[in-house]
Amino acid sequence: MCNVGAALIRYLNMPNSLSKTVKHLIRLFLSKPMAAPVDMSGRHVIVTGASPGSLGYETARVLAGWGATVAATCVRNVPLMEATLKDDLRKLGAGEENITAHRLDLSDPDSVNDFAAWYRDRHQGKLHVLVNNAGIHRKTFAPRKQQPLAEDGIEVHWRTNYLGAFHLTWVLLPLLQRTGLESGDARVVNVSSGLHERVGNEVLFDEGTRHEGPLHEGPSHGEPRQGRPRLWEPRQGGPRPDMPRYHSWDAYGKSKLAMIHMAFEIERRFAESHNLHAMAVHPGVVMTNLTLPQAFRGGIGKALHRISTALTSLVLLSANAGAQTIVMCASQRQLQGGKYYERCAVGEPSVDSQDEAVAKRLWDLSERWAGTLPQLPQLPLHPR
Ligand SMILES: NC(=O)c1ccc[n+]([C@@H]2O[C@H](COP(=O)([O-])OP(=O)(O)OC[C@H]3O[C@@H](n4cnc5c(N)ncnc54)[C@H](OP(=O)(O)O)[C@@H]3O)[C@@H](O)[C@H]2O)c1
Repeated sequence: MCNVGAALIRYLNMPNSLSKTVKHLIRLFLSKPMAAPVDMSGRHVIVTGASPGSLGYETARVLAGWGATVAATCVRNVPLMEATLKDDLRKLGAGEENITAHRLDLSDPDSVNDFAAWYRDRHQGKLHVLVNNAGIHRKTFAPRKQQPLAEDGIEVHWRTNYLGAFHLTWVLLPLLQRTGLESGDARVVNVSSGLHERVGNEVLFDEGTRHEGPLHEGPSHGEPRQGRPRLWEPRQGGPRPDMPRYHSWDAYGKSKLAMIHMAFEIERRFAESHNLHAMAVHPGVVMTNLTLPQAFRGGIGKALHRISTALTSLVLLSANAGAQTIVMCASQRQLQGGKYYERCAVGEPSVDSQDEAVAKRLWDLSERWAGTLPQLPQLPLHPR
């Protein structure tokens, strides 16, 4: 079966969703690649979004089990996450002191600053690996007019999955740079998704700018031609009547495309100067809280929810199998930065995600946006 399956995958290279579904189903019967164990003693790691049952949880558990000092985050139940992780580590015979835990809500700038300040004090300012794993998908099955918005009025996937992760990375950049210089290797692992292929680069700059037209390049790169630059600000007065209908899968894909741009841009900006590398990961289609069949929760009843969960688990990877590529990127020091990984190997992201000019423009705008938020007193940046 393995050889036939691998051959079929090679022939199914058409970029359409049918071939992707077939590929995924075949892969379920192939052996699942596992990250090779690495001694992580002395390495300080942040894993965002590590609630029980998630990819982040498995990532934090494995890395701490290999000796890393891991700070795990979630939003809703930090004591439960911390206790469960420590319990699992005890069972593995690893030190439970390898885990610390803190609340982090990426869509709230104060929460990001509070977490960063806590981390900086608690971990002596050392940060070897930042795993930007936390993410949401508020699934809607039909396109609709209204976008779901975060507290500050920005579309919720863009705000949480991309802008929030960018903000956190930006605030922690001095720590990553300093650790990269001192230890010879620091890295950012951005958890993206194969769904980044749903959209192209043209959608990256339109949030909150539609009413003024797209953000035009001006004489200096990345500047709009006239007036103040628009930085994904919420639109006043609700959606424009002629705005395309909102599709949560596109919004999610857009945030994941931006995560690839961010990873590749970090590699270009800081690999040589600070030994700071970055890579993007597609974990596969994985059974987690994000993919559990939400439609059956609540109203229709527990029995149907249980049946649908059991059926879903047959066609999805386990969280442990899905976390392997993230773990590999976080732990293997010889791995090449500036790449997209899936199934523990270099994968092929969309052509749009490899556009350097777009990544630079997105980084510059994101930096300016982060500069408008409440600031955490920064550690001095190392010159490039
Ligand atoms: N599962 C898949 O098939 C799949 C495929 C491709 C990519 N991914 C990506 O993999 C990553 C992990 O997803 P998962 O499948 O493990 O999902 P999950 O089980 O739903 O876990 C998501 C984690 O993110 C946290 N989170 C939610 N909102 C947040 C916010 N505003 N700020 C900070 N953290 C927040 C959650 O914390 P609380 O539990 O406290 O809310 C939870 O710990 C995501 O980036 C997802 O897009 C998943």
